[in-house]
Amino acid sequence: MERSKSGRTLTLCLAVVGHCLLTACAAVAADRPPAFPETPADGPIVPLPLALAFDPDRAALGERLFHDRRLSHDSTLACVSCHNLAEGGDDGLPLPGRSDARRGEVNTPTIFNSVLSFRLGWRGTYRRLADQVDADIQDPRLMNTSWDEVLGKLRADSGYAAAFARTYGDGVTRQNVLDALSAFHRSLITPNSRFDQYLRGREDALSETEKRGYRLFVSLGCVSCHQGRNIGGNLFQKVGVFADYFGSRGNIREIDFGRFLDTGAQHDLFVFRVPSLRNVAVTAPYFHDGSVAQLDDAVRKMGEIQLGEGLTDEEVGLIVQFLHSLTGEFNGRPIMSE
Ligand code: HEC
Ligand code: HEC
Repeated sequence: MERSKSGRTLTLCLAVVGHCLLTACAAVAADRPPAFPETPADGPIVPLPLALAFDPDRAALGERLFHDRRLSHDSTLACVSCHNLAEGGDDGLPLPGRSDARRGEVNTPTIFNSVLSFRLGWRGTYRRLADQVDADIQDPRLMNTSWDEVLGKLRADSGYAAAFARTYGDGVTRQNVLDALSAFHRSLITPNSRFDQYLRGREDALSETEKRGYRLFVSLGCVSCHQGRNIGGNLFQKVGVFADYFGSRGNIREIDFGRFLDTGAQHDLFVFRVPSLRNVAVTAPYFHDGSVAQLDDAVRKMGEIQLGEGLTDEEVGLIVQFLHSLTGEFNGRPIMSE
């Protein structure tokens, strides 16, 4: 019942050679399905670190900034308005914004664990938080402001002036605001999901059906793209390897061109950063266009367009159960009741 499609995975693997996990590729090159790891710890997915080091004073200032609406032109939007930490680190909307006139063009990704991804944004434009924030602040559809405006508002606040002087010495500057937000970003990781507990050796942290879902995730080849500590976030891949996602969805917009927009290279057309699947059960809706509302539909669609597989309802159900075990903890508590 638990299938593996070595032929398809072989094609895929050749397409991503150079990126693909060496072990998975070696197995597939011999026309075998990727081997299921002998022990969880040998697998292609590793647990999140329990914490990352950061400067607590800078992170505390970053946390305050993250919740401050003065970072937007009309002082209505803070980072947290779209990256809601009490929920999945996103906004739960297909596309961000309160009105159609100022609707963002791509879905808001969760900020949780994004510090561990190799690039930021759906198409992986930025390597550093500072560049992502620069873009979010100036984007007319997002915060719609400028550094001059933001720094003017923050400097007029004597509380900030004192806190920045204490922490940085040279006061409220663009560089210091970005540094404080970056320190806070490092605190936004969600370790200790049940799947990570399983990887660390707690066999009974997963149910039998969740384990079957994980095996399918590996044997079908999902793991050749969604892998590493973030279960994604470390490769670029085309959306629509086996089926034309954009043609069948229709209404192709410039934003769908993906990484092509950053490089102008033909082979980057429709290429995106493989997103992390950590906490994916609590970050609907899905895909860069926010077009898929339910996790089971996202899994079914992935089978079809990325693996050339029509998954059965049972297979989809098992994978979805496995994906639910990826929800982690923030500040020691489950990040959102599912
Ligand atoms: C109006 C909604 C909105 C606000 C406000 C907002 N963001 Fe974002 N954020 C987005 C969207 C949409 C993206 C995806 C952009 C893209 O891929 O082109 C994003 C992407 C990101 C990412 C990359 C996540 C990943 O997985 O790659 C980070 C980090 C981030 N934002 C941090 C911030 C910070 C810090 C602030 C405050 C300064 C902020 N955002 C304010 C909507 C928002
Ligand atoms: C060839 C690489 C590749 C393979 C194989 C692959 N994916 Fe994906 N996956 C992606 C990319 C790229 C996206 C981003 C799609 C978009 O933004 O439009 C994605 C998106 C997703 C999402 C939505 C995440 C979000 O936050 O919106 C889920 C869920 C997902 N994949 C699960 C799976 C499952 C389950 C499998 C196996 C059945 C699978 N993927 C196989 C590359 C892949």
